[in-house]
Amino acid sequence: MSTGASGSEREALRRVPCGPAWMLSEGAMVRVPIIPGFWIEDEELGRVQARSAVVARQGGRIYAYANVCRHIPLTLDLGDGDVSSADRQVLLCHHHGARYRIEDGKCLYGPCDGASLFPLAVDERDGELTLLVPG
Ligand code: FES
Repeated sequence: MSTGASGSEREALRRVPCGPAWMLSEGAMVRVPIIPGFWIEDEELGRVQARSAVVARQGGRIYAYANVCRHIPLTLDLGDGDVSSADRQVLLCHHHGARYRIEDGKCLYGPCDGASLFPLAVDERDGELTLLVPG
């Protein structure tokens, strides 16, 4: 299963192996280091380097985003890899409390209400997860 980018877009992307898909259980939300990092161009935030991704499984589907908050370009976690809310219903930025919907990365509440996380494409083949990131 693949999500998040068209065929021609995928050719320009770097493949980052993430390990066996079974390790990402239903409801899991994890930070994945991306080394080297990748750059995002955004009208509001400018040019931002991401050094990790947020990967979540919900309803059997896998979703991935750059680990960059839309309020201020900081990671959602505080360095401990915790990117979920206490009730595990949304992705949470632990700096100022922005709450992002897992399915589309949209901020539902917080200082960047209405903005969305930067989506990343995901490949799941032969039981292995691969992220596709710029550059
Ligand atoms: S940096 Fe994420 S809510 Fe402020």
